[in-house]
Amino acid sequence: MYLQRRNRILRISPAIRDMVRETILTPNDFIVPLFIDEGENIKTEIASMPNYYRNSLDITVKEVKEMWGMGLKSVLLFVKSKDELKDNTGKEAWNKDGLMQRSIKAIKDAVPEMYVMTDVALDPYSSYGHDGIVKDGQIVNDETVEALVKMSISHAEAGADMVAPSDMMDGRIGAIRKGLEENNFINTGIMAYSAKYASCFYGPFRDALDSAPGFGDKKTYQMDYGNRIEAAKEALMDVEEGADIVMVKPGLPYLDIVREVKNAVTVPVSVYNISGEYAMIKAAAQRGWIDENKAILETLTSIKRAGGDLIATYFAKDAVRLLS
Ligand code: PBG
Repeated sequence: MYLQRRNRILRISPAIRDMVRETILTPNDFIVPLFIDEGENIKTEIASMPNYYRNSLDITVKEVKEMWGMGLKSVLLFVKSKDELKDNTGKEAWNKDGLMQRSIKAIKDAVPEMYVMTDVALDPYSSYGHDGIVKDGQIVNDETVEALVKMSISHAEAGADMVAPSDMMDGRIGAIRKGLEENNFINTGIMAYSAKYASCFYGPFRDALDSAPGFGDKKTYQMDYGNRIEAAKEALMDVEEGADIVMVKPGLPYLDIVREVKNAVTVPVSVYNISGEYAMIKAAAQRGWIDENKAILETLTSIKRAGGDLIATYFAKDAVRLLS
């Protein structure tokens, strides 16, 4: 048989495969989400996220030191607020002595080089478990945006490098940028959750923070999973309003969206490999149905290949170990 082109030539040995590989993961690709709890020496495994924990601040700081030592460069903070601090205004979100603000300070004091990002949305502080203020059963946009601006400024004051609004209210990126500028936080970045879909895959995360919505769902603000073009609209508007990085979330079931957004914008695109994606790999691995380590690397590489410049993932530490 005569063949002009033999594609298998470039797959014949590990050396040539490594040489022509298009997508290579590095520790610089990962953002590590951290769940932080009040108290001391508290480490609680999240029921639906095996081997992932909600830690008190002392343990979190130790973890962050270890992560920096491993080559990880960025953490994304989430806190579990006490029930008695929750109300419909979400005002604990901008308490300068709140758990989030104390966490930012403690982490930046311990590991100043670590790039600290913070989640901005009212759900952990809302008595209704929604990302915004509730009036007559509706999540009101404009009042929520005012709250998110206060929240973002308080994170910047505490030392956050970048705020990450995950609420999907309209106009919040522009308002936050203006708030940061007016308060002279000219070096604080914004990573906008631009294309965030109303997804069932957030379930385990809501267990972690006890933040499930008390009524209804999040479909009046998070996107409909049937839509693709709308993701580009959201991302372009957020860039226009001042986002430094735009995010697509979830990750794996939305890789077409990652590519759509990547092609539409000229800022870095981040992707959130979310709690439900973590839980699925863990569950299948526990049953011996898939090889966990291989699934982790294949998943993260797929996300990067689709166009994810940065990946927020609960597998960050595992991935770094597997890569080294
Ligand atoms: C809150 C927020 C959520 C996640 C990140 N920020 C949950 C939600 O919108 O209900 C989900 C992360 C994950 O599932 O890993 N605004």
